[in-house]
Amino acid sequence: MSFARDNIARRFDRAADGYDQAASVQAQIAAQLVQKAIQSFSNPPRAILDIGSGTGFVAEAAAAHWPQAQITAIDGAPSMLKQAQQKVPHLQVIEGDVAQREFDPVFDLVLSSMVLHWLPKPREALDHWRGWLKPKGKLFTALLIEGSFQEWRDLCAADELDDGVWPFPSAEIYDGFATEQQMLRIEYPTVRDFLKRLKTTGASMPRRDHKPFSVARMRRLLKRAPKPFPVSYNVLYIEAPKSTSI
Ligand SMILES: C[S@@+](CC[C@H](N)C(=O)[O-])C[C@H]1O[C@@H](n2cnc3c(N)ncnc32)[C@H](O)[C@@H]1O
Repeated sequence: MSFARDNIARRFDRAADGYDQAASVQAQIAAQLVQKAIQSFSNPPRAILDIGSGTGFVAEAAAAHWPQAQITAIDGAPSMLKQAQQKVPHLQVIEGDVAQREFDPVFDLVLSSMVLHWLPKPREALDHWRGWLKPKGKLFTALLIEGSFQEWRDLCAADELDDGVWPFPSAEIYDGFATEQQMLRIEYPTVRDFLKRLKTTGASMPRRDHKPFSVARMRRLLKRAPKPFPVSYNVLYIEAPKSTSI
């Protein structure tokens, strides 16, 4: 299953212009991820890779803290990369599907925020990315795991409707790594605002076997949903070394 065929790239590419304004959750997670990396490095990393950089929240924060570092960003959505480049003029950008790319082991730090859950084999991808680190390098990533968007799932289940939520991985697939879980609960004025936010951030891709429901049923659902509508984002932060001993 390729990134392009799944239309994931297309959705993110279209979302690039409105992304920064709508992506407050993503911005918060990216900032926390970079903070974790900053705390763990006593000597500045010289080469950094930002995987699925989007508009550059991670790359920008890393560049602000380590202005001498050579930062490379890879993303499948060219419009996203364009914005990242504007934020960090010395950023080296690579357009493409990270699942189809190889890098030599030249990075002191690999960062990736809110990308891994979009990949078909998220555990294998993490192991693969670790191979791009120098011997003492470190990888920091944040992703959404099971339990995310549970409120939307419950709302749909009450009407026996297919929620279409993306199959977020379980935390267990990363057993053995240093992980930290964070449950963010965001209140949207209405469920419609939540759904709109997914779309404007490019994250509205449904599960592959999703059976969409009719406009009438959607209307009924929207009507009976609580206001404000709380939504859980179950975030897993992972720190992984180069070592393959896990
Ligand atoms: C939710 S956005 C996160 C962007 C950014 N890291 C942030 O924290 O705001 C996910 C990004 O990952 C990119 N992406 C997802 N799967 C990808 C893949 N297989 N190859 C390259 N980029 C991918 C998308 O194009 C999108 O820009």
